[in-house]
Amino acid sequence: MQVVKTIEELRSIVKWWRGEGHSVGLVPTMGYLHEGHKSLIVKAVSENDRVVVSDFVNPTQFGVNEDLSTYPRDIDRDAALCEEAGADVVFHPEPEEMYFPDSCTFVDMDHLTKGLCGKTRPTHFKGVCTVVSKLFNIVTPDRAYFGEKDAQQLAVIRRMVRDMNFNITIAGCPIVREEDGLAMSSRNTYLSPAERKAALILHKSLMLGEEMLQAGERDAGKVKNAIVEHMKTERLARIDYVELVDADSLELVKTITGPILAAVAVYIGKTRLIDNFSFNPGQEKRE
Ligand code: PAJ
Repeated sequence: MQVVKTIEELRSIVKWWRGEGHSVGLVPTMGYLHEGHKSLIVKAVSENDRVVVSDFVNPTQFGVNEDLSTYPRDIDRDAALCEEAGADVVFHPEPEEMYFPDSCTFVDMDHLTKGLCGKTRPTHFKGVCTVVSKLFNIVTPDRAYFGEKDAQQLAVIRRMVRDMNFNITIAGCPIVREEDGLAMSSRNTYLSPAERKAALILHKSLMLGEEMLQAGERDAGKVKNAIVEHMKTERLARIDYVELVDADSLELVKTITGPILAAVAVYIGKTRLIDNFSFNPGQEKRE
């Protein structure tokens, strides 16, 4: 497995692979990889002849007061995990390689990026869409892999691929959790031991909402309130949002008649964590 730092080198490797008739999978990440990321890589390896994992803390998706400078990084550990998972190349560019100092072209989106995380992070998805488009143009993969952990991001990428005619299949992969239920995240490393315990409230509150839906509740407001009230029992938790939205349009729903996404963002101390579950009244059990 190779760690590649330049666009030119990566392009020549992909060209070589294409000449050999190989299919190519891409797993975009910001590094500090864990089992959640690994599950995406393993899936990509099982479905493609060659797999590129990008490992790049993308500056354009961080707001001015966010954690760009403190975001955890460990390329050596990441490379070992990628190799173990069967990846062929880790693309690890410097920011200067990815962005010209005077670069002024962006990919942005209306509607889907305004609610949920877009409310507190108004420029975030513009950065995500821009960097993912660039990675798609650099790697030209057949398939790209994204986690359901970032459900809004997955919906945004699917819509961008549709709207911009990227000839790429987007694969969504289930949330990987710690044994006690906390969704794995590179940002979990910020949590103190007390905060780590408190962080369990996200999954617990969501499970409560899911149980209500499975028991037949269809009033989104009631489910939302139950999640909010349970979340409030944790002193260290401060809610950013709790929403039930249409799984495709991400518009708020009142009565649940089709597939929905229940998504939360909660500050545990200074760390902002997200979690979610999907529910389809047609299929009572989670997919
Ligand atoms: P990052 O947060 O590193 O996540 C990379 C991919 O791993 C995303 O698709 C994310 O949804 C997935 N992932 C993270 N934790 C997961 C978990 N517990 N279970 C399953 N999948 C998980 O998302 C980004 O990076 C960036 O925004 C990126 C798309 C790379 C653009 O910079």
